[in-house]
Amino acid sequence: MLSLKINQKNLPKKEWQPMSMLLSPTVIADLKLKNRIALSPMRTYNVQKHDGILNPLHFAHYGARAVEQVGLLIIEVTAVTPDGRTTDDDLGLWNDEQAKELKKLVDFLHSLGTKVGILLGHAGRKAKDATKVVAPSAISYNDEYSQPESLDHAKIKELQAAFVAATKRAIAAGVDMVEIQGGEGFLIDEFFSPVVNTREDEYGGSLANRYRFLQEIITAIRSFYQNSLWVRLSLDEYVKAEEQNKISEWQTIGNWLKRDGVDCISVTTGGLFDKGPDYKYEGWQVPYAAAMKEAVELPIAVAGMLFDSKLCEYILETNQADLILEAHVFDTNARWVVESKEELEVTSEERL
Ligand SMILES: Cc1cc2nc3c(=O)[nH]c(=O)nc-3n(C[C@H](O)[C@H](O)[C@H](O)COP(=O)(O)O)c2cc1C
Repeated sequence: MLSLKINQKNLPKKEWQPMSMLLSPTVIADLKLKNRIALSPMRTYNVQKHDGILNPLHFAHYGARAVEQVGLLIIEVTAVTPDGRTTDDDLGLWNDEQAKELKKLVDFLHSLGTKVGILLGHAGRKAKDATKVVAPSAISYNDEYSQPESLDHAKIKELQAAFVAATKRAIAAGVDMVEIQGGEGFLIDEFFSPVVNTREDEYGGSLANRYRFLQEIITAIRSFYQNSLWVRLSLDEYVKAEEQNKISEWQTIGNWLKRDGVDCISVTTGGLFDKGPDYKYEGWQVPYAAAMKEAVELPIAVAGMLFDSKLCEYILETNQADLILEAHVFDTNARWVVESKEELEVTSEERL
């Protein structure tokens, strides 16, 4: 028997290379993933019949993304009521016919080897095509959008119930994860805002009151669903400090989400006003994710021009986020995951 002396010199170089965090299998928020890359939710505006139902275009779009080997695929924001869509071309999950097609899509994506999540939301005052636009207060998004009606108590309860009903349909359709849209200027984000929400009842005023609309939804969902539950938050609106929540307040909300049973926070920015950052650069939202990670003991997902796999690796290694969300990179480069593998010199197929 040969005695092999192991030292750095006589071992093949690749054996010494650290496993890529980006490309290695992992468990995040109770989900076993084959890598730390997720397809970020992106509206495809593909519902030509305006019935909120998935059609072959969605199957082709999401099937292609699954083949691209993302560990988790998050289906675009899917409205919990007809008037909760940003446009009539959005998906919906307020009836059983929509749920039936969702089950087919989830089964199909599972057969392609990816985990599947879905983002559930209500566009609030950003519901451009809605017959009745609603929001916490009667303040419109901009001149091109209708002035919303302020929600009364009964309507608040109705919309919370719609989130719960859509969650039940998503679970029945077999999704691995449900994400609630709490960012991007959608209804829940409007409740969070100290400017867009001017209510004087228990859903407005203090931060705890502005969190209550979402809190009651989460509590209701947690009474029947114990699997992966995520929330998306937008941590900067690019307006004056006094016109938005401070980072410390988002950290407080993050800790309340953990207390109330949420498993992961997906960090983004913007959407509440017609404003954005002066310029965007690769990883521009990572500092917000890192701020959340510093304060909240939950996995954090982050998006935002994360095209460079070495940068993604660095973000993970330095513990600034746990999951990398990719949106429009796949529109131009179907091979992004494979190229990342080459870039990070991962040789073993099992690692994907
Ligand atoms: C066309 C398009 C549609 C999007 N739709 C949604 C959406 O429905 N919900 C959401 O939370 N984010 C949405 N986003 C934001 C993305 O999920 C992502 O956070 C953002 O594009 C930054 O990631 P990227 O630089 O990898 O594209 C959308 C982005 C694009 C470009």
